[in-house]
Amino acid sequence: MRVAYVSSELPGTRDAGPDDTLAPLRALEDVAIVQGDGLGGLPDDAGEVEAIVTVLTDRVDAAALARLPALRVVANVAVGYDNVDVAACAARGVVVTNTPDVLTESTADLTFGLLLDAARRITEGDRVVRAGGFGGWTPTFMLGQRVGGQLLGIVGLGRIGRAVARRARGFGMRVLYSQRRRAPVEIERELDATWVPLVDLFRSADFVSLHCPSTAETRHLVDAARLASMKPGSVLVNTARGACVDEAALAHALAHGPLAAAGLDVYEKEPRVHPGLLELPNVVLAPHLGSADVPTRRAMARTAVENAAAVLAGRPPPNPVR
Ligand code: DGY
Repeated sequence: MRVAYVSSELPGTRDAGPDDTLAPLRALEDVAIVQGDGLGGLPDDAGEVEAIVTVLTDRVDAAALARLPALRVVANVAVGYDNVDVAACAARGVVVTNTPDVLTESTADLTFGLLLDAARRITEGDRVVRAGGFGGWTPTFMLGQRVGGQLLGIVGLGRIGRAVARRARGFGMRVLYSQRRRAPVEIERELDATWVPLVDLFRSADFVSLHCPSTAETRHLVDAARLASMKPGSVLVNTARGACVDEAALAHALAHGPLAAAGLDVYEKEPRVHPGLLELPNVVLAPHLGSADVPTRRAMARTAVENAAAVLAGRPPPNPVR
């Protein structure tokens, strides 16, 4: 019997039937589904596991692959796949898939939420109110940064970056973007987005939002020098991956300038957060909620399961990563 190992509890697996997230795997006659708690929960004899449905906290590296001689597909329940050693998988002929598209709007919503929250000090204000620190309206109480009409710099104008740019236009923001290759001209026109070199984006934007993948090239893309080059009173938002930001340098730039605030959803050593950030009032810290709404998480799970089932059925998966 072939085995599909599902490493985490996925949304939508409680009710049987066509809406059951696992239905595409259940439809395969000769495949047993084993659900576990992380890759550590793989059965001792994992020799028959041909598919693993993983989440971003599962590390699929050479050691994990060595335990899975029959593996054919890693279906990651995320758009990011920095938790998977794609080269090692390719060398073994293992297909890797992800879940693009279904989480684009949800992640852009959260990004904009963090941007507004950090700029207008909403969470900070909430803490003040709860601590009894709201003594009544005064003209200078808890002033934040203006959002409407300001300049937003987007690092990575992929699906999520574009969805953020659309929201920014609704706020009358002007949009700059930076990435290795320029976006097609029709996208630039639709979003009224102007390409600039990264160095100029950091120097000129009032808000910088990261939407790049986590790679060796983007590790600490936001470091002390880049933070120092940002405008006084600027705001950084990161809903991409924690490794893109040097958290110690960010804590310094938030404590001593030039940044006014930051909104973070992801962390360098997740779930740990740099202690320097935990002490600061001017950073909003979300617990990796970018895609965390009910329909999105259901769609992500279903997409990953469909990818795994396709490979097991000998069909090309809808979302191979390369
Ligand atoms: C992803 O999909 O990569 C997000 O970080 C988790 O939703």
